[in-house]
Amino acid sequence: MNAPSHTTDHSRSIGAILIDAGRLTPENAERVLRVCREHGARFGDTAIQLGAITQADVDFALARQFDYATLPLGDQTVSEEVIAAFATNAQTVEGLRALRTQLMLRWFDSEAEHKAIAITSPEHGEGRSWLAANLAVVFSQLGERTLLIDADMRRPRQHELFKLDNRVGLSAILSGRAGSEAIKRITPLLGLSVLPSGATPPNPQELLARPAFSQLLEKLSETYDVILIDTPPATDYADAQTVAVRASGALLVARKNVSSSNQLRDAATIITQAGAVLVGSVINEI
Ligand SMILES: Nc1ncnc2c1ncn2[C@@H]1O[C@H](COP(=O)(O)OP(=O)(O)OP(=O)(O)O)[C@@H](O)[C@H]1O
Ligand SMILES: [Mg+2]
Repeated sequence: MNAPSHTTDHSRSIGAILIDAGRLTPENAERVLRVCREHGARFGDTAIQLGAITQADVDFALARQFDYATLPLGDQTVSEEVIAAFATNAQTVEGLRALRTQLMLRWFDSEAEHKAIAITSPEHGEGRSWLAANLAVVFSQLGERTLLIDADMRRPRQHELFKLDNRVGLSAILSGRAGSEAIKRITPLLGLSVLPSGATPPNPQELLARPAFSQLLEKLSETYDVILIDTPPATDYADAQTVAVRASGALLVARKNVSSSNQLRDAATIITQAGAVLVGSVINEI
């Protein structure tokens, strides 16, 4: 499945790295470990919840542990809109990391075994594609094997954001004309893969409703920890609803001072009535 593997150094735990760096006391590390063992939870999440460390400490440790790559400012590998890919401490990227933490706790936690989530919003231009791309980057930076799927076959964008050829993608896989080779690794961003939408079909909604889409997600869930799926506007097309149901959960994006509360309510209703979980909503300040 052309999936990334954790090839980087796992030999040192997050706790050990933070103790060495003087960011965590051995006593606190013990306390965190005890809770982790009791609840089968992750070290980083638990340590934050207990107030022993901050998200910045976790990011610091993961950067050491995974030696993940960020791009120097001005690098042309991906569009500059994918701000999280660049070495920056911009407030926006901090916000993305906070959202990542919320999603880890509420949706992708190890017990629930959720792997996929649809990124939805009511209208055009509210930032679904931007958020999906940037969230995918910050998840991959956490060491998660991350796949971003562009299921917006109406106005696909991810191939532009990641500078990929869009001739072969999701549409070709769903219609049986391509296989997993359509999934592209984004090097040097470790652990990140993107499946572009592929050529625009005449019948996106019908294509997404096929059992082939569910089967694809099931298969990909064996290979990836986190699968984020970009969708068209929920008000205009049933595609978003279909994707949310297949993913079993959705994140609802609202654009600050633009999205109407009525439309947001309607979009939320569309998603939940279809049987998907509304995992959360997020206000995007463009
Ligand atoms: N938080 C943000 N900060 C800066 N720019 C943003 C932000 N969110 C979105 N944008 C920019 O706003 C524009 C519209 O965003 P995007 O394409 O993600 O919207 P969309 O909801 O996917 O729209 P469409 O309906 O066309 O699919 C893009 O140029 C994107 O880069
Ligand atoms: Mg979009």
